[in-house]
Amino acid sequence: MKKVASLFLIVTVPTIATFVPTFAYSQTQELSYPDNTIIDSDLDGLTDEGEKQLFGTDEKNPDSDSDGWYDGTEIIANTNPLDATTPSATTIVTTDTVSKEIPWSWYITRASGLIAFAFAWIVIFLGIAIRLPLLQRFIRPVYSLSAHFVLALHTILFSLLHGVSMLFDKFFRLSFADILIPFHTTALDPFALSFGILGMYGLLLISMTSYFKPMIPFKLWRAMHFLNVIVYTMIIAHALLLGTDLAHPIARSLFISANVLLGVLLIWNLSLKFFHYFQAKKQVIVAN
Ligand code: HEM
Repeated sequence: MKKVASLFLIVTVPTIATFVPTFAYSQTQELSYPDNTIIDSDLDGLTDEGEKQLFGTDEKNPDSDSDGWYDGTEIIANTNPLDATTPSATTIVTTDTVSKEIPWSWYITRASGLIAFAFAWIVIFLGIAIRLPLLQRFIRPVYSLSAHFVLALHTILFSLLHGVSMLFDKFFRLSFADILIPFHTTALDPFALSFGILGMYGLLLISMTSYFKPMIPFKLWRAMHFLNVIVYTMIIAHALLLGTDLAHPIARSLFISANVLLGVLLIWNLSLKFFHYFQAKKQVIVAN
């Protein structure tokens, strides 16, 4: 019980410590109306001061990036009113007036993406817990290792569901090539989507090399496992750039805080590894 309480403290205190300032920062954007007049000169749904102070859009032009969507519509739809090339998935519900169907595949994409990410976070956390003495006190390394293995498989399964569900999306109409080949699509931000696709391949590669670890050289396996940091960073970028739910300040702040916590634990773990490595080297030199 004492162990569970301490583990809870280790995880929640730093998360809250980063969540509060991140959330507070996301709430700091305030509008001021110096002469108390609220005008929307171009009738795009955004006030002139809002366009000047918050969004950086042209208060005299209703469609600042000339992509056919009014600036106000883009802000509500969570797309960038200054970038004609980045429509977001949110446009499905806010602009699809022809079809009133429930975009179920979109719900599956969002839910499975978030679940896959949560599993990926836990897998990395457990991976660090195998070696970090502080966490070893709460979770026995043998448990961390087996959960690390099993949950990695869950991450892959939910990532596959997440990617494949995009094939059924009636708004973007992505093809197999779009979800398999990076930079192939023109329907979504190609960079953001490609980070997800490359992340998916990275996860597959890392898991495969781990399941077949006894058959491959140890150095190759270790190199592949270090790739994890790059793969995970790409997935973070993918989720932050494309995610509808993660555009919400609370979800975004929680997401960032959880990843800052993981980053701190990772650096801590690596520092300990380097410290032990150099100590061992020093002892060898002294012995010689
Ligand atoms: C073939 C690979 C992938 C494709 C085609 C893909 C596609 C997408 C799309 C279209 C969105 C935007 C959905 C929306 O919120 O409107 C999205 C968001 C997201 N993706 Fe992926 N993705 C891929 C790989 C991954 C992987 C490997 C992960 C994590 C392990 C991941 C995690 C996420 C998360 C967390 C979101 C944000 C969800 C939200 O905020 O609602 N994706 N992805």
